[in-house]
Amino acid sequence: MYGSSHDGGGTARPAHPRKRVTAPLLRDRKGNAAITMVTAYDFTMARILDESGVDMLLVGDSLGMVVQGADTTIPVTLDEVSYHTRAVARGARYAHVVADMPFMSFQLSSAQALENAGKLMKEGMAHSVKLEGGVEIAEHVERITRAGIPVVGHVGLTPQSFHALGGFKVQGKSEEAARRILEDALALEQAGAFTIVLEAVPPDVAAEVTRALTVPTIGIGAGPECDGQVLVCYDLFGMSLGHRPKFAKAFAELGEAMQVATKQYIDDVRSGAFPAAEHCYAESSKAAPSAPRTKRGARKLAAV
Ligand code: KIV
Repeated sequence: MYGSSHDGGGTARPAHPRKRVTAPLLRDRKGNAAITMVTAYDFTMARILDESGVDMLLVGDSLGMVVQGADTTIPVTLDEVSYHTRAVARGARYAHVVADMPFMSFQLSSAQALENAGKLMKEGMAHSVKLEGGVEIAEHVERITRAGIPVVGHVGLTPQSFHALGGFKVQGKSEEAARRILEDALALEQAGAFTIVLEAVPPDVAAEVTRALTVPTIGIGAGPECDGQVLVCYDLFGMSLGHRPKFAKAFAELGEAMQVATKQYIDDVRSGAFPAAEHCYAESSKAAPSAPRTKRGARKLAAV
């Protein structure tokens, strides 16, 4: 909370048997307990998700849309991802923190990809990086993993290719398109990716890719057969206003609850009910209490 220490004003954290989730541990989860990944963009959200037990926190370039209000993820910069990743990493005691490599931060060459992946590890304090694309970026993935940086792949709907794909559309609907997704996923696995995100593909295609890979798949709009699932945090909490994609199940309706709370705050400030005596520090040691500056202040002092 703003104005108090990070430990909530002195409340001790419970002793916890959890250990840091690492890339090798995640790779070994194939076929075992389903992996849970949620996006996060700041310290407070990261801490809530981390303490709830989520395995992976993804600092997605979706931040361009849900934090910055852009129409696509394309404008997001490396520095922006790095900044948000650093905040998330500070809130992640156990979860594995993945930093998304934004558009044009890795496509130019393997050297560019490695340099920028390195920045996200050094400056963003990420534990791994995620790259969108398949066969065409496999050499970059290999170069990054050879340098000791774990890589998450991302195939199917790759939002950085929004304009080439003609929008946010389900991918892999034809036999040929499904085969290409499988080839892309296999190329990433071969290049060293330790897990692969499958976005917006039919469930049977995701199931086939999941069966074909030795590394786990993490689905978003890809059905139940993936080895794990990922959601954008604001979707999970029901905080996204407007259109909700089919796959984005809201596990709470915090957006509505926040609006109710905000309206109550406005009413209470206007009526003088907030701040009440319990929200005020002790009076100063000056001899005479100063005269209330407002009518609402006078009412409250009379009530104390
Ligand atoms: O940027 C992002 O949040 C993502 C997930 C939706 C997988 O790539």
